[in-house]
Amino acid sequence: MTKSNNISFEKFERIVFFTGAGISAESGVPTFRGKGGIWEKYDYEQYACQAAFDRDPEKVWEFHNARREVVARCEPNRGHEIIGQLQKERPGDVAIVTQNIDGLHLRGGAMTVHELHGSLWRVRCERCGVVEQRLEAPLTELQHDCGAWWRPDIVWFGDALDGEVIEASIEAISRCQLLVSIGTSGVVFPAAQLPLAAKKAGSTLVEINPEPTAMSDAYDHCLRGSASEMLAELAGR
Ligand code: OAD
Repeated sequence: MTKSNNISFEKFERIVFFTGAGISAESGVPTFRGKGGIWEKYDYEQYACQAAFDRDPEKVWEFHNARREVVARCEPNRGHEIIGQLQKERPGDVAIVTQNIDGLHLRGGAMTVHELHGSLWRVRCERCGVVEQRLEAPLTELQHDCGAWWRPDIVWFGDALDGEVIEASIEAISRCQLLVSIGTSGVVFPAAQLPLAAKKAGSTLVEINPEPTAMSDAYDHCLRGSASEMLAELAGR
């Protein structure tokens, strides 16, 4: 597969951006896999699953508070901004489906984002299920008024994805003419297989990633470069 210079956002009516940690790498947010990846340093069984939280909620919060502090210091990059701007210019025609929990699409100007894996910036009460947006970094009030623990409103390993978020994502993906996957290794399911709904619908699929991925074979065009550089090229900006 080769780099293609013939694709331009202008040529497509409905576009879905399907993003992963790589789009935030240029903002300084560490990716999950590969050199310096979060899961190289931290064992997810200790920090990112329900069993770990049930065992030691304070330890799991320490990890998530450290992540809050890192991400709070990062700014959205040109890649987030190009996508956000395009969504503002073409409301209804541009959807963003992300695996990221960092909130950088929204800070980068996006209006609506389908957050498949939840958000680092929301908490959910373990007992009553109440969800609140909490932007503090670190978050110090770790318990809801009812006395139960707040839990990060994140889809951890072994958790089910939110049905409504999946449904809205699949709907957008099956209706698009162009799907652009950016900065994801394509190894976490079910998220990794969602772009295939676009393929089934006959859309054009483009992958932006400096490296080949587990899903590269499903794509019509693989653009080997950084998210911001390749997005600027496709947007003609
Ligand atoms: P990964 O860390 O698995 O993959 C990041 C991808 O970004 C790799 O394929 C890199 O080659 C690519 N990349 C790095 N720098 C880039 C750049 N400047 N421009 C474009 N691409 C770049 O991250 P995800 O695929 O997002 O789950 O991981 C999927 C899920 O696994 C995450 O949502 C997370 C994790 O466990 C939760 O947090 C629940």
